[in-house]
Amino acid sequence: MRVERVLLKDYTTLGVGGPAELWTVETPEDLKKATEAPYRVLGNGSNLLVMDEGVEERVIRLSGVFAEWDLKGWVGAGALLPLLVQEAARQGLSGLEGLLGIPAQVGGAVKMNAGTRFGEMADALEAVEIFHEGRFQIYEPQELGFGYRKSRLPPGGIVTRVRLRLKERPQEEIRRRMAEVDAARKGQPKKKSAGCAFKNPPGQSAGRLIDQRGLKGLRVGDAMVSLEHGNFIVNLGGAKAQDILALVRAIQEELPLELEWEVWP
Ligand code: FAD
Ligand code: EPU
Repeated sequence: MRVERVLLKDYTTLGVGGPAELWTVETPEDLKKATEAPYRVLGNGSNLLVMDEGVEERVIRLSGVFAEWDLKGWVGAGALLPLLVQEAARQGLSGLEGLLGIPAQVGGAVKMNAGTRFGEMADALEAVEIFHEGRFQIYEPQELGFGYRKSRLPPGGIVTRVRLRLKERPQEEIRRRMAEVDAARKGQPKKKSAGCAFKNPPGQSAGRLIDQRGLKGLRVGDAMVSLEHGNFIVNLGGAKAQDILALVRAIQEELPLELEWEVWP
């Protein structure tokens, strides 16, 4: 186990966030120790807006045994989803194609029920192991209240590993589906972001609504509403969390949109 003071801007895809004590856990014993005081769990930091003042609680990051994976067995929650998607295609295993392009760890993808219109994390799960109140317990996906970009994990629960529900399919078929998902992402920016900032209201696209309001290009400091996709807020380089939050508020003054990101603290 490693415990170090870090700046969370180095651990989030938006590239903002202040100091924290990072606990990198590698074994079940580490995890037990790390959770003896108030904590938060960090995945790949791709759906987080961490404020400039940082966080008081321990920030736990899964590594070691928690990042090991076998597509036909247990998959550690610290494993990177993009690697799994590629390896599944290579092995001719179908079920993860819809998750192509989501830069999450498995645990973060479960917590957010990450997905696209081609499929979501919950669809690909057979079982989920969660650590809470000092022990590991296995859940069926139906027990975890999955919905659009949400789950209901037990309070303080840390996803530690999952079993996937994949079926053997011809590689060409899997690759064809991946190409379709890839094509649907073409309009998304490559600059630093945390994916879509807002949830889509039922039957609507937040990105289109923001676009129609003429808000693309709106800027606070180095935080800007992407010119490519209205639902992406990008960090042009030196954005502060405060700039990003101010931009979020400015958009919400114009449109009743619910934030998809989690804000720390
Ligand atoms: P983090 O951002 O680190 O954390 C998110 C939440 O999950 C936090 O509450 C955290 O505490 C919790 N968490 C993390 N790990 C665990 C764990 N092991 N146990 C319990 N809780 C945990 N999202 C989509 O749904 N669809 C998309 O198409 C999509 N495209 C994206 C494209 C880009 C370029 C980027 C930057 C982001 C995109 N996202 C998308 C958003 C993001 O990737 C997802 O929300 C993803 O699920 C976040 O996972 P993470 O591991 O980065 O979690
Ligand atoms: N559109 C505009 N202007 C814009 C953006 C979009 O007119 O600036 C239009 C598009 O032309 C399209 C429609 O709005 O006709 C929908 O846009 P898009 O296909 O980009 O889908 P989205 O609803 O904006 C959703 C998810 C993405 C996911 C894509 C692909 C949400 C909030 N967003 O985007 O997920 O990658 O579909 O399936 O559900 C995320 O959640 O972080 C995320 C990136």
